[in-house]
Amino acid sequence: MPGIISTAPGKTILFGEHSVVYGKPAIAVPVNEKRAKVKIIPDIIAPKDSIQFVASQIDLNQNYHQLEGNHPLKVAVDEVKKFLNISNYPACKIFLETTIPISSGLGSSAAISVALIKGLLDFVGFQSTPDIIAKLAFQVEIEFHGNPSGIDNTVIAFNKPILFQKDMPIEFITLGATFSILIADSGIKGNTKTAVARVREKWTENPAQFNNYFEEMGNIVLEAKAMLESGNFQSLGKLMNFNQEYLRKIGVSHSSIEKLIEVSIQNGAYGAKLCGGGLGGNIVVLINENSVNQMTNLLLSTGATGIIYLKLGAGEY
Ligand code: PMV
Repeated sequence: MPGIISTAPGKTILFGEHSVVYGKPAIAVPVNEKRAKVKIIPDIIAPKDSIQFVASQIDLNQNYHQLEGNHPLKVAVDEVKKFLNISNYPACKIFLETTIPISSGLGSSAAISVALIKGLLDFVGFQSTPDIIAKLAFQVEIEFHGNPSGIDNTVIAFNKPILFQKDMPIEFITLGATFSILIADSGIKGNTKTAVARVREKWTENPAQFNNYFEEMGNIVLEAKAMLESGNFQSLGKLMNFNQEYLRKIGVSHSSIEKLIEVSIQNGAYGAKLCGGGLGGNIVVLINENSVNQMTNLLLSTGATGIIYLKLGAGEY
């Protein structure tokens, strides 16, 4: 059994986070500039089902059997075993590493799950499909996030821009132009689980108003899909700002995010909004390709702790 390497991209949500949890559509795109990587090598001396995980970035060097029952790595292995209908997985060593920043809305946990599941299937010679990987990774996301919509594992497994809606077929988006997007880290660690729980609490207190917000957010997403397909930067930017207004209303923004958004808009960005769970984490800023350097410097001097330049290319996916 030869060793294998499997990788998966990060992701960002361009439109529709949170409302997607309530059955509305959302748009997500892969971020191939940042990736999770899994290397699996056979362990010829260890007994069957011995899987040694090594992730030096988080000081992890533990066997599968020592991990807690709901540990995401253990859940991933268990899902694969269940899917393959096997009770023992071949003994191996699994090295995990990632360049995707953690807890910042870039899908770090889903990317690890997707790369791992793809790798585990590949290692035993099973020809997987993105659909199978997305479904298995979703089970891991449930353990990790509580009540995830499924958008992260889906966009990462397919590695294409998608319009995602719960319980609906995935729609792939064909970009009508090349979009320049800066993903700027506010430096405040986001917490998706807390953000989702907070929105649910507020929704329970005021369902009519929040359903209305989610409805509007869903409409923005559908318009945004059309603008991505036609390559209309101006309108897409306005829709980002509009989406951000609703994210503010549902209470998931943060002062550091607002500051970065304000500076980008004042300095010529087409639009900007938070991405992912919020309460910190990253923002996405749509800009003209010529202003990448200037806007990067500006965001860094305003307090952003990291910038990723995402060039979403027409004809690339
Ligand atoms: O923080 P992220 O990138 O995992 O995104 C969360 C997106 C939410 O819509 C807030 C939750 C979900 O499960 O879709």
